[in-house]
Amino acid sequence: MEKQRGSFTGKLGFVLAAAGSAVGLGNIWRFPYLAAKYGGGIFLLVYLILAITFGFALMSAEIAIGRKTGLSAIGAFKALDKRFSFVGYLVSIIPMIILPYYCVIGGWVTKYLVSFLSGQASATVADSFFGNFVAQPVEPMLWFALYLGLTAIVVFLGVEKGVEKVSKIMMPILIVLSVIIAVYAMFMPGAMDGVIYYLKPDFSHFSATTVLAAMGQLFYSMSLAMGIMITYGSYMKKDVNLEQSVRNIEIFDTGIAFIAGLMIIPAVFAFSGGDEAALGKGPGLMFVTLPKVFDSMAGGSFIGGLFFLLVLFAALTSSISLMEAVVSIVRDKFNVSRNKAILIVLAISVILGIPSSLGNGIWGNIKIIGLAFLDFFDFISNSVLMPIVAFLTCIFVGYVIKPESIIAEAEETAPFKAKTLFRVVIKYIAPICIVLILISSVLDVLGIAKI
Ligand code: PFF
Repeated sequence: MEKQRGSFTGKLGFVLAAAGSAVGLGNIWRFPYLAAKYGGGIFLLVYLILAITFGFALMSAEIAIGRKTGLSAIGAFKALDKRFSFVGYLVSIIPMIILPYYCVIGGWVTKYLVSFLSGQASATVADSFFGNFVAQPVEPMLWFALYLGLTAIVVFLGVEKGVEKVSKIMMPILIVLSVIIAVYAMFMPGAMDGVIYYLKPDFSHFSATTVLAAMGQLFYSMSLAMGIMITYGSYMKKDVNLEQSVRNIEIFDTGIAFIAGLMIIPAVFAFSGGDEAALGKGPGLMFVTLPKVFDSMAGGSFIGGLFFLLVLFAALTSSISLMEAVVSIVRDKFNVSRNKAILIVLAISVILGIPSSLGNGIWGNIKIIGLAFLDFFDFISNSVLMPIVAFLTCIFVGYVIKPESIIAEAEETAPFKAKTLFRVVIKYIAPICIVLILISSVLDVLGIAKI
């Protein structure tokens, strides 16, 4: 049964709420380490091209599906075509896989925030600090529990609106502060090479994996291919300009990721003396590099503390939207009360979060297809399930309900300017590229072929 739906007040309300879900650890933590790992400028270029084509088309399609049906993912696919109901179910699994490990990383952010606030910023500067911290069996788990608890409390009390209000103030501060840190980092001795690495595409670094990583990141960062934007679309009023809203969310989301890269990658060069191996630090990159930047700044502990506080807020607005999505699915499917659903989601999160945390230390030797737990969950959701869902969504829109139905929905308010781009991307370019890339990357991870 569908519950009564509220709607966002006007255009700004919708854009900000969707941006609150989109902007999070994906932008500040995940984007820079992937850009560093997958060739810098070439990754950035591929990401930007995908954002204005795939990202634009998919986000428009998802929001329009939601607004047209007034339903969230499971109901929406079913209402439009019964044969595609299974896509709704597939979509529902993804946030459940992401939520636990997202909260593990949210726990790391909380730990850094508390370290900075309690005057222990200097301890975090040592190269070994991050690795030692995440390898401990108990401490990271406590921070994970704290972060998960915070998320659950907000969802339980239903104070998302309050959090959104706070983040409306915090987001602009985050942007200003990130720009200041980025400018400072870019002008550190040795950092210019990093700026060049990040901005100048080097085509010799290009591979199918670059495209897959960029595509997975795009879906993750914009909360696409997991039903979230369908749900948000269902709350959107008909008089809000859909195309323009999509553009605004994209600019906001990509802008913050871009600045985060500028903040972190040049700093890696400055501190490693140009040793490119330091770029491959993976998920720890932000946690290893930023404390060093803060340490070298006047008033760095304060700036660092403020920065981690803002990141925590950005992360919370995203994890709340993730948990909210899973809770509503559990409620609808199992017909349980909201509180019971929250408890079930909490239990699953703990069960999946524990290996994600221990995999960085005492369970480090347990690998699934060569990946530690956290990386495995990340890989399965971002590089396998999300591309599959995106592919199915393209087929659904391109050949079942037809692009015209989405265009008509968008045109309830204003002419849809990028019609042709939308049609071509959703019918041809996106599905073909997704299949090729998916196959090549899965073969790559399974060690069958390197492309
Ligand atoms: N888009 C968020 C980020 O970039 O951090 C992560 C996320 C939030 C993914 C909500 C999925 C989601 F439903």
